[in-house]
Amino acid sequence: MSDRVMWFNGSCVPWEDARVHVWDELALRGANVFEGITAFWDAAEGRHRILAGDEHLDRLFQSAHLADIPAPTTRAEVFAALAEVAGQLGGSDVYLRPTFYAKRGRSTLSLDSEGAMYIGGFPYAPSAPPAVRAIVSSHRRHGGPIGAQAKSGGSYLDFRIFERERVAAGVEHVFILNDRDQVAEADGAAILLVEEDRVTTPSVDSGVLDSITKRIVLDLARDLGHRVEERPVLRGELHRAQVVLAGTLLGLRPVQSVDGRPVDDPGGAATAAALVDGYARLCRGDHPLAARYLVPLR
Ligand SMILES: Cc1ncc(COP(=O)(O)O)c(C=O)c1O
Repeated sequence: MSDRVMWFNGSCVPWEDARVHVWDELALRGANVFEGITAFWDAAEGRHRILAGDEHLDRLFQSAHLADIPAPTTRAEVFAALAEVAGQLGGSDVYLRPTFYAKRGRSTLSLDSEGAMYIGGFPYAPSAPPAVRAIVSSHRRHGGPIGAQAKSGGSYLDFRIFERERVAAGVEHVFILNDRDQVAEADGAAILLVEEDRVTTPSVDSGVLDSITKRIVLDLARDLGHRVEERPVLRGELHRAQVVLAGTLLGLRPVQSVDGRPVDDPGGAATAAALVDGYARLCRGDHPLAARYLVPLR
């Protein structure tokens, strides 16, 4: 079993051989869009099942469109390449990161650069930290014409600044507010406020990536009979419910404190535990919603 696999220019290549030029738009102006996708190993059937593959590929092509990066290939070819990478990684759960990028650049911005793709893949074995504490960043996020809805490399530059604050505070996560002082998202995750009978999350117009894990969790919540609300969320609301983070890489992660204030909502904590359990079962194919979200990769 490999510990990392790279697909580049049409096939899997040794990691060191996946080279781009420094004068590619990718390097000059950060012209890339990407996805992080998980695929779970089904030992009984001896194959991977991809989680929300269609949704991730929809978002990848949509991000390319929003950022005006030419899509280099078709959906079918991206799926085939993802299957090739997962196959090379072998019989474990995997994390797959397809990237579309723009090639040859010029000193001035060129919109006609050819598009290309690479896919990095790793075994996926998430481990939750013993404590999950968060701070709210002192910086605000301002949307540009591309905005947080596109999963672009450039939009993650801001996270270098948020990450400094997180490290200085010695906590596990940092939350971002938008320029209207509303709650947006966390580092690598959507934010959900979970109460006993209701799940609330910032609406897409709050300046967030429309998280696919969040969409799955909202479906799990509806399936459990809970109300679901997508609306602007105020900072103070972070202290009134069980906060849960949702992201492909993290999975679902209940938060124990925000800005040093412990979360105290036993009803919300019980609902959060049911959602965590439902999500884990869905990823293993042991949930009615698995039929909708888990698809064999080969
Ligand atoms: C900023 C940000 N928000 C939200 C998410 C969660 O999105 P998804 O559930 O689609 O992985 C991520 C995941 O990478 C992210 O980086």
